Amino acid sequence: MKARNNHILGWKQIYIALIVLILMAMLLRHSRKGSSVSTMSSSQDLFAESSLSAEDQLAESSPSREDQFIEPSSSAEDHFTDPSQSAQDALPVAPNNVSVSMNPEGTFEETNSHATMTEETENKELNFDPPPMNSTMSYPSRNDKSDMENTYSPKTQVCNYAQGRWVADSQRPFYSGLGCKRWLPSPWACRLTQRADFSYEGYRWQPINCDLPDYERFAFLRKMQDKTIAFIGDSLGRQQFHSLMCMATGGEESPEVKDVATEYGLVKRSGAMRPDGWAYRFPTTNTTILFYWSSTLCRLERINNTDPDSSFALHLDRVPTFLRKFLHRFNVLVLNTAHHWIKAKFIANRWVMYLNGKPIKNGMLMDMMNVKNFTVHRMVKWLDSQLPLHPGLKAFFRTRSPRHLDNKGNCNNTTPLTGGSEVIQEGSSDKIVETAVKGTKVNILDITALSALRDEAHKSQYRIFGTSAYYDCLHWCLPGIPDTWNELLVAQL
Ligand SMILES: *[C@@H]1O[C@H](CO)[C@@H](O)[C@H](O)[C@H]1NC(C)=O
Ligand SMILES: *[C@@H]1O[C@H](CO)[C@@H](O)[C@H](O)[C@H]1NC(C)=O
Ligand SMILES: *[C@@H]1O[C@H](CO)[C@@H](O)[C@H](O)[C@H]1NC(C)=O
Ligand SMILES: *[C@@H]1O[C@H](CO)[C@@H](O)[C@H](O)[C@H]1NC(C)=O
Ligand SMILES: *[C@@H]1O[C@H](CO)[C@@H](O)[C@H](O)[C@H]1NC(C)=O
Ligand SMILES: *[C@@H]1O[C@H](CO)[C@@H](O)[C@H](O)[C@H]1NC(C)=O
Repeated sequence: MKARNNHILGWKQIYIALIVLILMAMLLRHSRKGSSVSTMSSSQDLFAESSLSAEDQLAESSPSREDQFIEPSSSAEDHFTDPSQSAQDALPVAPNNVSVSMNPEGTFEETNSHATMTEETENKELNFDPPPMNSTMSYPSRNDKSDMENTYSPKTQVCNYAQGRWVADSQRPFYSGLGCKRWLPSPWACRLTQRADFSYEGYRWQPINCDLPDYERFAFLRKMQDKTIAFIGDSLGRQQFHSLMCMATGGEESPEVKDVATEYGLVKRSGAMRPDGWAYRFPTTNTTILFYWSSTLCRLERINNTDPDSSFALHLDRVPTFLRKFLHRFNVLVLNTAHHWIKAKFIANRWVMYLNGKPIKNGMLMDMMNVKNFTVHRMVKWLDSQLPLHPGLKAFFRTRSPRHLDNKGNCNNTTPLTGGSEVIQEGSSDKIVETAVKGTKVNILDITALSALRDEAHKSQYRIFGTSAYYDCLHWCLPGIPDTWNELLVAQL
């Protein structure tokens, strides 16, 4: 009963926020006369921005509400071990705008659009990762191949791209934060906000033992001829997807790039804030880049189909249907999950952990760190077992993106690299992902320690109009740090 009242209240606020936003959007549109913004992206921006303004209106004191409207979808998915569909009869069209529809393959997809929530302060991750000490190691000078060959022999040594340092580079960023309107959601385009410092855009990552090949978008697309790159994960995975779209188009309008979302069943369901994901194809090279939202990489299923306020079974041992269904079409897969493994998200989204089709009542998996570890290991194991069946697929698990709340819940440093500029440690700062991929053919995309040095590059408190009392110290400005994650990804393809 209490939960129900809460989200009715939430909807009122969202409505007010939406109305305010529509007015703002009209104003903005007026002031941006001349720039052509596709209807698709503007509605997307509107929705993305609406969630942030609603956040502002709620004006809670909690510092970490960046993912308030976290669940655009909760897709009913296939059995992980048992391929048979779980028997589900007709679902009603539910009130509270939980819309239910059937996809052509006959599995049910649910859109849980009203699941608003607050994010618990992640005390465990509250502080900056310890700044790495300065190294005495020498770096290869850029474009000096003979120098590089002295320190790096590709035959005997695999480059650890995670070890290196940030260096200022006037060739950055790869695209303008004032452009890429079709793919850069405006709340993350810090150039469109009140933020006035942009020095964070002007750095590149220099690995210690090897050179990162220069990213060049046409070469990248040629390399990805007839290939599909899929990102599956949470909002940080989404940021990496938007970043790659901007990098691949150079932030140019690119009307030739086709929206192929429907090929993957990625539609915005009625009442939903956002679609389940996005998919685009570059016609000249037949390259597809897509994102699918799955914040826990687990299958979610409504427990009681006839109850609109039903909780959701979060099946720790079943992978999302989307992944099973389309795996054979992917050539590059980048998974991530991290920030949704907190009790507050489970409560607000009414997620109940299930194992072997039954709710877990007690035991070690009730602990969030254990259950996250369990899921990451389980997912990597499953993916590793699939790789021999999909020889054209290269799979990556991206490590945790660090957040930078100081003890006031702020992140307002604007000076780059105040905590050091180098990572010299051997292993990853994300032990869960590092341990899970060890001994498998799943690659680690280790971005945790290098991103931890960039506390100044978060979205922080800046909004399109004014600033917010609330600091987003989790998501990054774009262009920004996720561009470097993509450089590291592309270097490993
Ligand atoms: C939910 O959606 C239905 C149908 O689309 C609409 O009639 C109703 O007003 C919506 N309710 C809320 C609370 O948004
Ligand atoms: C690391 O190097 C930077 C600049 O090169 C210097 O300012 C800083 O004091 C050094 N830190 C340590 C721990 O040596
Ligand atoms: C595009 O690539 C896919 C494989 O990803 C292939 O099946 C398809 O035939 C290609 N289309 C064209 C027009 O070459
Ligand atoms: C499912 O929800 C409906 C409506 O709230 C209720 O009548 C029914 O008893 C529930 N079924 C189970 C198995 O809990
Ligand atoms: C994570 O899970 C794996 C496999 O289930 C286990 O071997 C490992 O000890 C766990 N690690 C932690 C830190 O719990
Ligand atoms: C960060 O912002 C808060 C709130 O505006 C302010 O109290 C604090 O002094 C600022 N810190 C720095 C280092 O500027």
